[in-house]
Amino acid sequence: MRTTVGIIGGGPAGLLLARLLHREGVDSVVLERRTRSYAEQRQRAGILEQATVDALRAAGAGERMDREGIPHDGIELRFDRRAHRLDFPALTGGRRVRVYAQTEVVTDLIALQLAEGGPLLFEAEATGIAGAAGGSPVVHFRHEGREQELTCDYVVGCDGFHGVSRDVMPAAERTTYARTYPYSWLGILAEAPPVYDELIYAHSSRGFALASMRSPTVSRLYLQVPNGTDPDDWPDERIWDELDTRFALDADPGWKLARGPVTSKSVLPMRSHVIEPMRYGNVFLAGDAAHIVPPTGAKGLNLAAADVIVLARALAHRQRTGSDTLLNGYSDTCLRRVWRAEHFSYFMTTTLHSAPGQDPFETRLQLSQLDRVASSPHAAAELAENYTGLPLPAR
Ligand code: FAD
Ligand code: DHB
Repeated sequence: MRTTVGIIGGGPAGLLLARLLHREGVDSVVLERRTRSYAEQRQRAGILEQATVDALRAAGAGERMDREGIPHDGIELRFDRRAHRLDFPALTGGRRVRVYAQTEVVTDLIALQLAEGGPLLFEAEATGIAGAAGGSPVVHFRHEGREQELTCDYVVGCDGFHGVSRDVMPAAERTTYARTYPYSWLGILAEAPPVYDELIYAHSSRGFALASMRSPTVSRLYLQVPNGTDPDDWPDERIWDELDTRFALDADPGWKLARGPVTSKSVLPMRSHVIEPMRYGNVFLAGDAAHIVPPTGAKGLNLAAADVIVLARALAHRQRTGSDTLLNGYSDTCLRRVWRAEHFSYFMTTTLHSAPGQDPFETRLQLSQLDRVASSPHAAAELAENYTGLPLPAR
């Protein structure tokens, strides 16, 4: 098989890239190692920045998102017995975010690509890339019980943190920056109405908690837990009791979450990870294949979208004009935004969580920082600008 752009991975990065390329008249083939239903049901992120929303519309995938996604104009911070709301449009000159789950984004993109795009193969696992440094890289993959080859002008590794694309870069030509955190998240989905019409990020002496949502009847909730936690140690009642305690304020002692059946429960580790550069020869990396952030800033999915927006423009420019200028700028352009999101995600994570054995000095610093956000419009605007997402570079 031959194509212009071989895309490894049918997560949000790979699927959105395929759609944007299709709109620009650039051929692609997407290889996804999982089944369609697995890819559609994998519970992950929920918050879309304006630039991601715009890109999904440009990709033709905006219709259901515009109908069912829930626009949010702020978040609430809870800390030190106080609740403080950040008003995003007021702080950022009109920017807001939208709640629309990654499961739905992926479902919409898959349906479109199958209806009117290039090939999207499920249960097609890339095993390696040959000739990455040269002009025509070849992706080796296994599909329908056979070893197959996809010859490409360009390969884009959108295969997430556990993919194979990163490995084409010789160790001497890449630099990896990494950090793991001494805590994880226990995430649940529950058939219960959200407690509040925006997200609540809570700092508490017992650890961080986050209240999000998927719809007016489905809540998505997270609790900080120790690394290595077994979800089976958290029966539903224990989760609800702990959430009530962490969100409660002394001023609001009767505050309770609406409870309902818990339909999914999992533990997520937290890490930061960046590979530089995001290109080797004609192989480009995008999304989690190139960088991971801890989820506290809601940036992972949005960074993946930003990478492929920049890359789709560069590949279309190459096809239209023969010029490599934009492709040559891809890695630097993306890494600037990636490092901003890395910093913001680190800031949100370390400000809101309690590390094991954290001393009271550290806790006072966290509370002082949160108080600063609650009392200074400048500090609040800095958080709001980062959360709602920096604008993409102009075309
Ligand atoms: P992925 O979504 O990981 O997609 C990669 C795709 O490549 C997958 O479909 C995989 O099956 C496929 N693949 C891998 N290897 C191969 C191969 N060899 N051949 C073919 N296909 C392959 N972000 C937030 O903002 N908030 C959250 O709450 C949040 N929760 C998360 C929970 C978990 C468990 C994880 C792992 C991530 C979470 N994230 C969250 C991050 C966010 O979901 C990711 O940043 C986003 O999925 C990145 O998209 P991607 O397309 O780059 O990678
Ligand atoms: C969600 C996840 C996040 O990491 C976050 O910061 C906000 C919302 C969510 O899954 O809804």
